[in-house]
Amino acid sequence: MLPKAVEEGLNKQVAMEAFASQNYLAMACWCDNNALEGCAAFLYHHAEEERMHMMKLVRYINESGGFAIIPAIAQPNLTYENVQQLFESAYQHELKVSKSIDELVDLSDLEKDRQTSTFLQWYVDEQHEEEALYRTLLDKVKLIGIEGRGLYFIDKEVQVLLDIVEAKEAAEG
Ligand code: FEO
Repeated sequence: MLPKAVEEGLNKQVAMEAFASQNYLAMACWCDNNALEGCAAFLYHHAEEERMHMMKLVRYINESGGFAIIPAIAQPNLTYENVQQLFESAYQHELKVSKSIDELVDLSDLEKDRQTSTFLQWYVDEQHEEEALYRTLLDKVKLIGIEGRGLYFIDKEVQVLLDIVEAKEAAEG
């Protein structure tokens, strides 16, 4: 049985992952409208991944005797000055999610809820990967630069990163 405070914390995380999915979807649309097909493909894929993060939490809450609350979702930001600002925003968002997961682990430890602490370990590992991924992307954007042909090369690099992510997912089944 989930302690009440843990159930509330998990539901807050559901809302955060749901927003993340919409936010990445909006980023994908901005890229699509700015001829950045590789970035758009990467972000569409990531929007799906965030929905999977949300679904995993929803199922866990319900399976554990709690009640998963499907949240209203705020309108995400729709436009960006440039692709560097977009990836900076994505990176900052992932840092926020990591902090939220860490706080949730602390809470489940405090409530002596071992099952939830163990369940959340998957999210801790996932956040480590996501932070690294967006940090890498941001470093590449800064290195290549967004002037002239830079955007073209950034888009190609992001497509390569998506190919790596998809190959890894296929290998993991
Ligand atoms: Fe599900 Fe990117 O945090």
